[in-house]
Amino acid sequence: MAEEHTLLIVKPDGVRRGLTGEVLRRVEAKGLRIAELRMDRVDRALAEEQYAEHRDKPFFGELVDFITSGDVVVARVVGERAVSVLRTLMGPTDPATAPPGTIRGDFGTVITENLVHGSDSPESARRELELFFGPGDP
Ligand code: RTP
Ligand code: MG
Repeated sequence: MAEEHTLLIVKPDGVRRGLTGEVLRRVEAKGLRIAELRMDRVDRALAEEQYAEHRDKPFFGELVDFITSGDVVVARVVGERAVSVLRTLMGPTDPATAPPGTIRGDFGTVITENLVHGSDSPESARRELELFFGPGDP
């Protein structure tokens, strides 16, 4: 069994609404481990780097404005199949249609304000963890 590492971000809406604890509780209750954790503020350069794959999308400006709009909580999450397990806990991108029982499905209605980010592949996880936590662990 090989553990994976992945990046979780509680976005500014989640922090503003006092849902950080609820998100972290679900991650831990599922059996994933929080290996590093801090509150942070994402500047525009970091946001543009983090979401570089979306640079040409029409929603890119709105996405960067939003993720830089307030404090976030960033975590290195570790566990068996952590990348896909975290994505399943989060639910699909649009909270309006995300199923109840998922974080987005239970707490959101607006696609930009979808509470959480999770890396979408082990390769993305490595890249994003390095951006937020620096080189070191896998
Ligand atoms: P994330 O990267 O934040 O974990 O979200 P995701 O993988 O589920 O979705 P992704 O396709 O990577 O999109 C990144 C973020 O962009 C916003 N978005 N807005 N207005 C729109 O049509 C639209 N589409 C995507 C969302 O906030 C999404 O989380
Ligand atoms: Mg994504």
